[in-house]
Amino acid sequence: MKQVLTLGGSNSVNSISKQLAEFSGSKLSEINVVNIDLNDYELPLFSVDLEAKKGYPENALALHEVFQRSDGFIIALAEHNGAYSAVFKNMFDWLSRIEASFFYNKPLLLLSTSPGARGGQSVLEIALSRFPRHGAEIIGSLSIPSFEDNFKDGQLVDPELLETLEGMIKDFQNKIIDG
Ligand SMILES: Cc1cc2nc3c(=O)[nH]c(=O)nc-3n(C[C@H](O)[C@H](O)[C@H](O)COP(=O)(O)O)c2cc1C
Repeated sequence: MKQVLTLGGSNSVNSISKQLAEFSGSKLSEINVVNIDLNDYELPLFSVDLEAKKGYPENALALHEVFQRSDGFIIALAEHNGAYSAVFKNMFDWLSRIEASFFYNKPLLLLSTSPGARGGQSVLEIALSRFPRHGAEIIGSLSIPSFEDNFKDGQLVDPELLETLEGMIKDFQNKIIDG
């Protein structure tokens, strides 16, 4: 069975990005979905000196292996000061040192959300221009604004956003299944 990894770009315990990534993953069928929590992969702050002295941390290697084993990715980014959260950027830096093309030309559904009206559009734009350089084949991208209004009891409740997201998930699913 094909495998898809979902990941929220945050380490907060009640992460809204994680909720969005996992909700989207739950809409897939006939695919093994692995939900990654960055809290389970704690990493030291990247530095070239630490890398030279100690090599790659075990958790970075473990994450890299999950990326390698997966057939596609659903990533929902959190936005901190208009950019990636520190924990996501740190993961990104470690993974990129293990292998620059760590998305392996596999399909990626790229999402963002925030409690505010822009829904993390700034970080989404950064990732849209950067991730393809690391081998991401971006199948669709969407930002969900005003998370608390649009996402209730574990469900995306705004009908238009839900329709758009479901359409993207369908395209993503077909791409994964058809290879
Ligand atoms: C340090 C910090 C910076 C933030 N900067 C932004 C921002 O630039 N844009 C935005 O929409 N929300 C911003 N927020 C609010 C986050 O969108 C909000 O905390 C959200 O819940 C983060 O996602 P998470 O729940 O997955 O951690 C910021 C929050 C923090 C703690």
